[in-house]
Amino acid sequence: MFNDIYLDNGATTMLDPKVVKVMLPYLTKHYGNPSSNHSYGDKALEAIDKARKVIADSLNAKPENIFFTSGGTESNNWILKSVMFNSNKKHLITTKIEHKSVLNTCKWLEEQGYHVTYLGVNNEGFIDLEQLKSSINDNTALVSIIQGNNEIGTIQDLESIYKICQENNVLLHTDACQSYTKVPIKADFISLNAHKIHGPKGIGAIYAQKIEAWQHGGQQEFSLRAGTENVPAIVGFAEAVKLSLKNQNKVVKLRDKLIEGIKDYVKINGPLEKRLNNNVNFSIIGKSNDYLGEKLRQHSIACSTKSACSSKSLEPSYVLKAIGLSDEEANSSLRFTVSRFNTEKEIDYVIKTIKRLTQ
Ligand SMILES: Cc1ncc(COP(=O)(O)O)c(C=O)c1O
Repeated sequence: MFNDIYLDNGATTMLDPKVVKVMLPYLTKHYGNPSSNHSYGDKALEAIDKARKVIADSLNAKPENIFFTSGGTESNNWILKSVMFNSNKKHLITTKIEHKSVLNTCKWLEEQGYHVTYLGVNNEGFIDLEQLKSSINDNTALVSIIQGNNEIGTIQDLESIYKICQENNVLLHTDACQSYTKVPIKADFISLNAHKIHGPKGIGAIYAQKIEAWQHGGQQEFSLRAGTENVPAIVGFAEAVKLSLKNQNKVVKLRDKLIEGIKDYVKINGPLEKRLNNNVNFSIIGKSNDYLGEKLRQHSIACSTKSACSSKSLEPSYVLKAIGLSDEEANSSLRFTVSRFNTEKEIDYVIKTIKRLTQ
């Protein structure tokens, strides 16, 4: 089983052995608390400072605007709740194709009396910029739009979205958990995590120039998120960022080879351009994704029959429904997400298997 071909990198990725190597000393030797006033503490604090600079540089930002979190879910919660709680405006705009950590936070905010507009998308998953413009009103505090969609890979035109927000004095947040290190990111608030880029799970960050404290206690993270820092994970996150920035070409080649090999046999979901470089989502109409998932398991291919967070749900994917797929089309879909650790040989085998399954 553990030799299966892993094509579920949108759910999570293998820790790069080079990341493990830099993390290990912080688990075994440099285990000090960064707040401690001795050599162990100094070593840990120095590692965090260095890591923060790596993340900041990757966004052309200042280190003091990067705050480590426990991952993408916490990053999204912190930004959405803090911005809304601390604004005298009560309206937030998002999309129907956000990750659940944004959608369910928005639903909860609605229960607290906030108003949320959920923008629809076209058949490739793009929002309509005119609709965004006309949805902004005097009560709008924040726009929150996922940059690279986790299911269908659509990369929104964040630059134009940001321009519209700035022209209308509205703040922009983007969930960049899937797009980080793959495309440039610019917004007022950014959510990041490490486990989609061969870093450890349970570590993420936010970019913010000004934000209220999230967790109260000690003075960690500039007194905005208290709690002893997860030093090994922070060190691993930064190493993963460095490696990921250097290694995107192989990923896109594998993704394109896969699409080219299957496109005449399946219905590709999502755009052909402006798409996350690791994402292939498609339907084999007439075959249920439960059936397809089982067949691929038998062929030792690990992929996603829905997004990982809802793979246990029987409902058709809300993202595929939002781009206009019927229940049948949505329920016959698969998501393959490649990584730099896949090989051309694996992709050849996968193409052959998919062709066979469509017959
Ligand atoms: C777009 C997006 N946002 C947020 C998350 C949640 O991140 P984490 O698993 O680090 O909490 C994920 C991961 O599933 C994601 O794909």
